[in-house]
Amino acid sequence: MNDLVTLRGGDSAFIIDLSRATPEVVHWGSDLGEPARLAVSSHPVPPSSVGSPYRRELVPQASSGWRGRPAVEGHRPDGRAFSPSLVTTGSRALGEHGHEITMSDDAAAIELIIEIHLTAEGMLRLRSTLQNLGDTSYSLLSLTNSVPTGLGAAEILDLSGRWCREQHPQRQSLRQGTWLREYRHGRTGHDSSLFTAVGTAGFGNRSGAVWATHFGFSGNRATTVEKTPSGPALIGNSELFSPGEVVLAPGESHATPWTYAAHSARGLDGVTETFHRWLRSRPSHPASPRPVVLNTWEAVYFHHDIGNLLELSEAAQRIGVERFVLDDGWFRHRRNDTAGLGDWYVDEDVWPNGLTALIDDVRSRGMDFGLWVEPEMVNEDSDVIRAHPDWLSGPGLGRTPVEWRHQQVIDLVNPDAWDYVFSRLDALLSENEISYLKWDQNRDLTEMGHAGAASTHEQTLAAYRLMDELRLAHPSVEIESCSSGGARVDLGVLERTDRVWASDCNDALERQTIQRWTEAILPPELVGTHVGPTTAHTTHRTHSLSFRAVTAMFGHFGIEWDVRGLDDAEFSELSQAVDLYKTHRGLIHSGTAVHADLADPAYSLSGVVASDRSEALFAFVSVATSFDEIPGQVGFPGLDPLADYEATVIFPTLSSPYRAITNVGWIPDGITASGLFLAEVGLPMPVLNPEHGILIRLVRR
Ligand code: GLA
Repeated sequence: MNDLVTLRGGDSAFIIDLSRATPEVVHWGSDLGEPARLAVSSHPVPPSSVGSPYRRELVPQASSGWRGRPAVEGHRPDGRAFSPSLVTTGSRALGEHGHEITMSDDAAAIELIIEIHLTAEGMLRLRSTLQNLGDTSYSLLSLTNSVPTGLGAAEILDLSGRWCREQHPQRQSLRQGTWLREYRHGRTGHDSSLFTAVGTAGFGNRSGAVWATHFGFSGNRATTVEKTPSGPALIGNSELFSPGEVVLAPGESHATPWTYAAHSARGLDGVTETFHRWLRSRPSHPASPRPVVLNTWEAVYFHHDIGNLLELSEAAQRIGVERFVLDDGWFRHRRNDTAGLGDWYVDEDVWPNGLTALIDDVRSRGMDFGLWVEPEMVNEDSDVIRAHPDWLSGPGLGRTPVEWRHQQVIDLVNPDAWDYVFSRLDALLSENEISYLKWDQNRDLTEMGHAGAASTHEQTLAAYRLMDELRLAHPSVEIESCSSGGARVDLGVLERTDRVWASDCNDALERQTIQRWTEAILPPELVGTHVGPTTAHTTHRTHSLSFRAVTAMFGHFGIEWDVRGLDDAEFSELSQAVDLYKTHRGLIHSGTAVHADLADPAYSLSGVVASDRSEALFAFVSVATSFDEIPGQVGFPGLDPLADYEATVIFPTLSSPYRAITNVGWIPDGITASGLFLAEVGLPMPVLNPEHGILIRLVRR
């Protein structure tokens, strides 16, 4: 066996020492170059402690002296084999960028396989598979993928939120103890953090060392940052099982979802770059230009009227929309949210001639057609549940889970229920020209059970299988993952979907934060961003159209607004924004995302720089009033320091009240300076009114 395994990718390296009984992580951080002379030595043994030196184990176990959370927890029926002692029994390379390590505990009769890849983009991916080799069942309580943090780790940054306020950052010092986030929503969750980052003191967008992980799964799960007195902090990701949920029969195995992790020596933007590059390298990554969407939800809600919708289709075409998405309200009994979920037949009362007239109209206008569905859910007031009351998932014992938006979950672990849902979706996609499904999931999946036993894990996999089978049957249909906004945003669901709906909040100010942090790991082409109504329906804040458009620009752009009644100025400004998006989406959806570190929290400057650095598009945004009279000079990160760029403000151009004071030297005529000057000295910014923004284009000269 090769004693030292070095995986290299991007500008990172992951080095594992296999010379002892259990694998040790020697290094996860910057690539040390080739050949690096390594000096792996032992730590001192402190008084009143384990009698052997601390080692940074890949698989922490009590049997080798670890007194924190163990990687594997389980037992046999009589409580035996409760503390594994897994030792390395095999190891093999998985191509240039991967390695597989096998660990066995013969006495406990279990085997663990850890697969680790450090991809060419620098993405560390790992997962663990535990197999029961005994002749009795093995109850698995938890199986954790753990990665170490490195020198100087001092702070934890993760995200949290609620409906309409997803992915807001929270930061704290890294201290002794366990920082634990548990997500028991049965779905990813509105409070779910897209990443857990540990970094050096004060790490920022462009500075500091950062070690960040993401767990690619949409069910119950836990993330820990654990710092014991023994050594550096570990970040752990595991699925959370309900009692008795995973019992492995002899020969059976259980695999964790993938943990994704990135190290950056240059702040959060380095983590973002790794995630974006890796996600874009996937063969399934959307390759076609992301079409301008019009979604009917905030335009008409449940009031489906073919006349109104045809008018909306006509207005959408005039503005330049390319995809028309009919939201909730089209199926049987669905006049409001109390009934109909599960009855996936076009409602004959509202749509006597089916959806064809609308679909034909939309398509004749050069737009493709999308449809809203919520396949995992039912209302109890539905034909399907009247016929099959036993298809409700729940805890058994004569109870159903507490109601949520008048709905329950259909037990997809039941093959008959799964077949019903599949066949209805399959029929809809076969009978209609549908290019896109907005796949919603509007409640927490609490107390999931099948035949009386806990089933969140199986329910999650069954929902994945539903998506996978539909994609196989209808390969050209794209799927959006929506879950009351952003409650199912993760790399597990993104293995089978093409975009996520980040939030039900279309308020541009809230969206500034939600999108900044969603896009910290997801590239903008995967994140739906809509221009909503003038006064946001979820916050009642009123924003200029230009601010709403600047905010929606950095994503998969769309409109969710009744655009039939726009006045001339609104029509022309919205059409201009649509044209700008079409012109620049190639750049926005392929370039490097950059975020300046501004001292003034009233402003933000973020953008996308083309991969060859020939051009860039930035948004300078005011999110609040400032203490200062002027924003001062603002530096543009990510440009080629040696090249000259011409900077101009390209939006808004209409007489919009975005600037409190208009006399800034370089606006509107533009200015040319080197990338180095623009980064280090910067440009004076205009005094924006609060909650306004401008788009700045930089082109290499
Ligand atoms: C959820 C979604 C919304 C909309 C409604 C329809 O709340 O997040 O975008 O589709 O359901 O009921």
